Amino acid sequence: LEVPTELEAKMDEVITHYPVSKRSAVLPLLHLIQHHFRYISDEAVNWVAQKLSLEPIQVLEVVTFYPGFRQTAPGKYHVRVCRTLSCAMAGSYELMESFCKEANIDRSHVDHHHPIAVSPDGKYSIEFAECLASCGFAPVCMVEDDFFEGITPDKAPEVLARYE
Ligand code: FES
Repeated sequence: LEVPTELEAKMDEVITHYPVSKRSAVLPLLHLIQHHFRYISDEAVNWVAQKLSLEPIQVLEVVTFYPGFRQTAPGKYHVRVCRTLSCAMAGSYELMESFCKEANIDRSHVDHHHPIAVSPDGKYSIEFAECLASCGFAPVCMVEDDFFEGITPDKAPEVLARYE
């Protein structure tokens, strides 16, 4: 894994915050890896394990536990649609249909077998997310780090148009 020098220096600095057990640095390191590479590959899991003197499985179990970590590459713009109760009741499944249609993504690919579905041109990817902590403004979605509330299905084209 090609980890830039500055990124590794930042990780080394983060590790110093956990003098008792380097293992506790696994979460912040994974966040840094995902932020830089956009997902956490098997190679990245091995790299982090080596860095923290852990077994790869000890890193992988963290990656797979938190739904916020991605194990496959997303598109250029990644969309997350909340599917937890308030959003589901307010139409997040219809919103997902609308995003898929707009981004030319096969809706049947948004499931447990393909946690992330990517558009054929690689521009957009989409996944269901669990509660994004804004239930009062359901349905809620995110594109990259941007938050959108009260997004009814008809607004999906408008949201994606911001990322042309
Ligand atoms: Fe969607 Fe909480 S249920 S933000």
